[in-house]
Amino acid sequence: MPYIWATMQSLFDTDGGMEALGPGAAVLRGRALPRGEALLAAIDAIAAAAPFRRMTTPGGFEMSVAMTNCGLGGWITDRKGYRYTGVDPETGRPWPAMPAAFLALAREAAAAAGFAGFVPDACLINRYEPGARLSPHQDKDEADYGHPIVSVSLGLPATFQFGGPKRSDPLRKVRLHHGDVVVWGGPSRLAHHGVLALKDGEHPLTGRRRFNLTLRKAF
Ligand code: SIN
Ligand code: FE2
Repeated sequence: MPYIWATMQSLFDTDGGMEALGPGAAVLRGRALPRGEALLAAIDAIAAAAPFRRMTTPGGFEMSVAMTNCGLGGWITDRKGYRYTGVDPETGRPWPAMPAAFLALAREAAAAAGFAGFVPDACLINRYEPGARLSPHQDKDEADYGHPIVSVSLGLPATFQFGGPKRSDPLRKVRLHHGDVVVWGGPSRLAHHGVLALKDGEHPLTGRRRFNLTLRKAF
């Protein structure tokens, strides 16, 4: 690639800590960094009311990632399928409310990526321990794909895979660190994405763990 073209391309790809991942998809480097500790404290409070658990896929496999939720509804999987429920099946109580800090971050990150007015009503919280992984999938249990997904990484770094709407679309690998936020919507809303097996390590705030918040407008 001629030098001038390579320079223009890199300017385009990394504008103010924002890296394009595809049409309507971007990584916002470090966007959640100033709020990392507050977000982790909020996760602890949610988990005290709705504990992390490893759910079962419809095919009968126990997921390696432990999950809980907050907001109007929570995403679950069991032998009956994937869906949102208003009540946590483990506790019989409604999912904990969405913390104001989650809402504010999601709204700001979505706006920075070009999706003004995003108001999530559900947040899936993933907890990865060494070896835990998430195979490529689409987020498609939400009512309206007109709203983006905002995904916040906390703790140990992980390798995120991001492809396209077709399962056969090539997957790009992106290293995500504590505080990084990924937003995908518009033409990328149904992009396949996954997380490679977490490598062991030690993070000053989370120890041997990675957390991920996936904020959606589900209803
Ligand atoms: C997800 O797709 O639910 C989580 C993605 C991630 O952990 O980065
Ligand atoms: Fe997902």
